[in-house]
Amino acid sequence: MDVDPATLDRAAAVLRAGGLVVLPTETVYGLAANALDPDAVRRIFAAKGRPADNPLIVHVADAAAAQALTSAWPPAATALAQAFWPGPLTLVLPRAPHVPDVTTGGLDTVAVRVPDHPVALVILRAARVPLAAPSANISGRPSPTRCQDAKDDLGDRVDVYVDAGATRVGVESTVVEVTSDRVTLLRPGGLAREALEAVVGPVDVASASKRSPGTRYRHYAPRARILIVAAADVARAADRAADQGAKVWVIASSANAAPGHHVSVPGAPDDAAGWAHRLFAILRDADANGVDTLVVEAIPEVGIGAAVMERLRKAAGVTRAGTP
Ligand code: TXA
Ligand code: MG
Repeated sequence: MDVDPATLDRAAAVLRAGGLVVLPTETVYGLAANALDPDAVRRIFAAKGRPADNPLIVHVADAAAAQALTSAWPPAATALAQAFWPGPLTLVLPRAPHVPDVTTGGLDTVAVRVPDHPVALVILRAARVPLAAPSANISGRPSPTRCQDAKDDLGDRVDVYVDAGATRVGVESTVVEVTSDRVTLLRPGGLAREALEAVVGPVDVASASKRSPGTRYRHYAPRARILIVAAADVARAADRAADQGAKVWVIASSANAAPGHHVSVPGAPDDAAGWAHRLFAILRDADANGVDTLVVEAIPEVGIGAAVMERLRKAAGVTRAGTP
């Protein structure tokens, strides 16, 4: 989907002037503001209803611009940036002094990434400032993978919406902390842990208290109740909820679809990328259709499947000790 150049110019001008822009990335739509302007960043928190202690990811056009926001850049950061940027990977590193407190939630680290989306990169280069951009949803709601989802949540709190169609990846970036001696996974996401480990060797998984602050909050939640069940139990769980009078939708691979119910098929169980691409849109569409109960087939937690299942458990309000 082509974006009108005048819209891109306006977006860059609004960002330079301290305003808010919803823009596409390869993962989800982001709510962007100048990361170095504390008033602009405060507008992001206000628009989303986001807790002030939940820091933002700062988006830049290349690794050199990312490094300029940090005060240490270990060899693993160079290796990861070369292998995966632009792409769905966020690096958490010690921050440079000029990065405002409000952007980092008062932490002494900053999260940086180079998004893999031509529109985001054009806007970053035109704005000539780093852009703080959380997912463009009201805090707690599923992240927006379509521009309209962001509009539904944020309405006229945003100065410019840049619509470039549905995002490719569909779940947010993988967040890792990088120090001189280790790489720690803070949030699973669009880049598989297995891919990280192929470049930097074994990656630690953060304990609950060390995870990204954002992973502590209830998140991704539709209004519908979510039941995550094994493939063999999908039909029975859907029938039971329907018998109790609930409006039921099923999210499952076609082999495990429950006859007689509205079924969304994001892909085969081993097509985690397909599930990631469609999941948040299905959750939002379920709400728009007044669904009471979503019965979801659990998929294997390999590759991006780990992020899909983490998002589903969060959406369902289920926490599981020992997994991020
Ligand atoms: O794909 C993405 O990451 C999207 C697009 C727009 O880039 N952005 C996104 O942002 O998901 P947000 O704000 O929804 O999630 C950012 C996550 C939160 O869990 C936050 O706590 C964590 O990154 N984070 C940010 N700065 C951090 C820091 N200094 N240390 C630890 N975690 C941090
Ligand atoms: Mg978010």
